[in-house]
Amino acid sequence: MIDEAHRLRGQRLQDLVATDHARVQALSISVNGWLADFSKERLSVAAWDALLQHAEATNLPAWIRALFAGEKINLSEARPALHTALRQPGDSPVFVDGHDVLPAIRETQYRMRALTEGVRSGRRTGSTGLAFTDIVHLGIGGSDLGPRLVCDALATAPGTDVARAPRMHFVSNVDPAQLSRALAYLTPASTLFVVTSKTFTTQETLANAYAARQWLDTGLAKVGVAAHFVAATANTEAAVAFGIAREDVLPLWDWVGGRYSLWSAAGLAIPLALGWPAFAALHAGAARMDAHFLAAPMAANLPVLAGLVGYWNARVLNHRQRVVVPYAQRLAALPAYLQQLVLESNGKSVTRDGDPVAGPTAPAVWGATGTDSQHAYFQWLHQGTDEVPVEFIVPLRATHPIGHQQTLLVANALAQAQALLEGRDDDALREELAPQALAAAPLAAAIAARRCPGNRASTTLLLPQLDAIELGALLAFYEHRTFVEAILFGINAFDQWGVELGKQLAAPMAAALAGKTPLPQATDASTRALCAFAQRALRESDAP
Ligand code: F6P
Repeated sequence: MIDEAHRLRGQRLQDLVATDHARVQALSISVNGWLADFSKERLSVAAWDALLQHAEATNLPAWIRALFAGEKINLSEARPALHTALRQPGDSPVFVDGHDVLPAIRETQYRMRALTEGVRSGRRTGSTGLAFTDIVHLGIGGSDLGPRLVCDALATAPGTDVARAPRMHFVSNVDPAQLSRALAYLTPASTLFVVTSKTFTTQETLANAYAARQWLDTGLAKVGVAAHFVAATANTEAAVAFGIAREDVLPLWDWVGGRYSLWSAAGLAIPLALGWPAFAALHAGAARMDAHFLAAPMAANLPVLAGLVGYWNARVLNHRQRVVVPYAQRLAALPAYLQQLVLESNGKSVTRDGDPVAGPTAPAVWGATGTDSQHAYFQWLHQGTDEVPVEFIVPLRATHPIGHQQTLLVANALAQAQALLEGRDDDALREELAPQALAAAPLAAAIAARRCPGNRASTTLLLPQLDAIELGALLAFYEHRTFVEAILFGINAFDQWGVELGKQLAAPMAAALAGKTPLPQATDASTRALCAFAQRALRESDAP
């Protein structure tokens, strides 16, 4: 692989792709109405074959079967990662420690559906008898990003029952500005809070939940506040101790990781906002991708091939960034969702056995929607000094057609991928500048400034449209691709120990900032100085 990578680095992508239809054929795949084109990546058929051999050598097919079978593949926490069971159709049992978890999944879905229909029909009201007009989802990380993305993406999708929908608000940050801004527009008597926290110990979510309770206490004169809360958590007792009625606490399980949890009760906001049929369709789309991932041979398996490309770019070509550009305004939240999914999963530097990894793992993932990002960082992509592989995600059919705007949108996506590949050479620029009749030196300068080298890699993913089914399939695709990359890197995608240290240090820091206890002895000089400076301003800022 290294030799092939070296050979490919010495070639211009535009020359590789130019008229090679066989290459395009070999390096693209069409599955369930999608087309994934990897032919603009710095790849070759030989590299592709070597990657497939590497996948076999790392036992990827066995790992995929283990994922679905509920084996404890999250080794550092000795747990399965069974998000696929949450969207599994049919009644086949799914065993964890010899116990079938499917009945609990179905019972929870039944309760979620009853709650959803109660709230949306107005049968379930607040304590003064008013129907809920507004729902505030409180959660962070995996208990926020997935539900937020889906609610945003499908808020106005065809088939979504917007008329019956309460308004959804997402509050994740401990920054008081976010909650106060949301509450400024709301009325306690008609507001329902959904507290979503697998652990029910997450500082940000609990701070917001306590603040919400205080807001309700004030607005409802402390009467019937519990009617305005529901929760999704694996820590039922903590939610009950907070004051949420036991029957309003929906369970999560330790075999569902936070960033894989939107399919569970952690996704309650989705049916509340969009109706149960949309949530069911989302599951059906994910199940379609699951079935493909489990059954398709490696060489025709979309998440596997995408994962191989990710591995190739990160580990073999050593690209340290990956830019994701959805050409769909409704996928504006996708880059943030992928940042958590990919970076919390694969931002690791030790193998499953605790040894140092043999090379780079996940690159930084970032992006924003096209066409907006074309007017921001695309200049850097086209003419900057770094080559960064770009991923174009393009739903083709418009859900809200206006004139020819959808065609314009898709044209921009394809044209950007083309521009990254082909660039613009000096001959073309000379011809373009000819009418200006510039002298030699200014002409050379004008050409240099305008020259786009091309030779920049990208993947293009075309989807038929963006409805609940395709979105479900898209999110499952990214989950599986991330898992494939983890297996190829030799790491565990399902733990996130790196986020714990910051959480542990935040508590003594808060106590020190509040002047309650001094910073621990071992605190470094820089942190001490920052703390002392901040203390002075904070004294005037926190509410009594
Ligand atoms: O950021 C760390 C993390 O543990 C995520 O994995 C998780 O999604 C998030 O915090 C929220 O955790 P919880 O659902 O327990 O509040």
